[in-house]
Amino acid sequence: MNDFSNESNEKIFITGGTQLQGNVRISGAKNAALPLMTLSLILNKGFTLSNMPDLADTRLMSNLLAELGINNSWKFGKVNFHGAPKINEASYELVRQMRASILVLGPLLASKGSARVPLPGGCAIGTRPIDLHVLVMEALGANVYYDSGFIIASVGSEGLKGGLIDFPKVSVGATESAIMTSVLAKGKTTIINAAHEPEIVDLAKCLISAGADINGVGTSTIIINGVNELNPVDHEIVPDRIEAGSFAIASGMTKGNIEITHIRPKDLEFFLKVLNYTGSEIKIDTNSINITSSKRPEPYDIVTQTHPGFPTDLQAQYMALMSIASGSAFIKETIFENRFMHVPELLRMGANISIKNQIASIIGVKELKGSKVMASDLRASMSLILAALAALGTSEIDGIHHLDRGYEKIEDKLSNLGAIIRRSK
Ligand code: UD1
Repeated sequence: MNDFSNESNEKIFITGGTQLQGNVRISGAKNAALPLMTLSLILNKGFTLSNMPDLADTRLMSNLLAELGINNSWKFGKVNFHGAPKINEASYELVRQMRASILVLGPLLASKGSARVPLPGGCAIGTRPIDLHVLVMEALGANVYYDSGFIIASVGSEGLKGGLIDFPKVSVGATESAIMTSVLAKGKTTIINAAHEPEIVDLAKCLISAGADINGVGTSTIIINGVNELNPVDHEIVPDRIEAGSFAIASGMTKGNIEITHIRPKDLEFFLKVLNYTGSEIKIDTNSINITSSKRPEPYDIVTQTHPGFPTDLQAQYMALMSIASGSAFIKETIFENRFMHVPELLRMGANISIKNQIASIIGVKELKGSKVMASDLRASMSLILAALAALGTSEIDGIHHLDRGYEKIEDKLSNLGAIIRRSK
């Protein structure tokens, strides 16, 4: 998620005002797929991932792994990984395009005994340091230093050793690094203040199927006993709860009726409660939900939190919903310090939003107006798409390369629901 992604001149045009209706099938989760793919660096005996979303970010990770020596072949949402890493250095050209590339550091270190990974840099939504990933490597016995824009980690001939990883702050990526780096370390690792996100549970589930000894995942304390080797594994990636939540908001934006399928409603429990408070009717089934929205959304305040709280990755989209609410709402962002980049663009569309510190105050307006707007990051781009679906007239959304990082076949999915949407140069 940074400023240097492969930019294109593509734009999306949306003419708003259509009530969205029908079914949408949700893809595999990008945020689960990325760490799972890096497991190919330590799962060298055979590894297949299914329900793989075909996205700019997953293709980029695939190229990064290929450069490190892991062949990966894609067919109908299934990716087979073969081989072990041949080199220990990740390329700057690829790492600079995606912050999640830092996730290769631990598995590469575990596999090769040393790793050189360029610093992923800052990004639009905040400074996003990597100190907690470094803390993980050091707690497991690695020597870590920085040189010429690279982070360099290495272990002695005895390899990685289990240790105590006590996080001063909850981090999804660093928890994933801790799990991936310690499964093959000698002895016991205890992770304190671990994140609970469903994507972390999915990562651990895959590793457990491969023979790893991991306990307590989904709680704040995770205990891992290192094993000597990991076995071949086939794993199905969990559904993308953020994509599902974005479509649920699309129903609220357009007084729609949308059946969202191939999901795990439990992963969205808190978010769905909030959506219900805003007036949408929600029917929950085992692997699907139906959202019916028949009136203007009601205002409801939220604070972003780590799982199981309201996800920061749905904050921008929820702000689009509140911008047409029948009253005022507050949104407090607690995870990233600069995640309100969508606000000036929503203002262009006629929203009434002000920001003080990390709190956005939104006074709902009756109508948004189609406008030319610019997406600044992945979730901001979906916020603008949602606003455009509700707006009067046509919107032109620039910066679409951000959207392509995390939403598979978005125009097809929205136009199947009745949206008037097209992409052009
Ligand atoms: C992941 C998700 C991202 C989501 C975020 C929070 C992926 C690929 N991305 O990002 O979509 O928005 O979780 O749910 O899964 N931090 C540090 N030091 C570190 C690492 C993080 O201070 O070494 C801080 C961050 O700046 C941020 C907070 O910790 O303020 C949480 O970030 P983190 O949970 O690590 O996010 P990511 O794993 O990068």
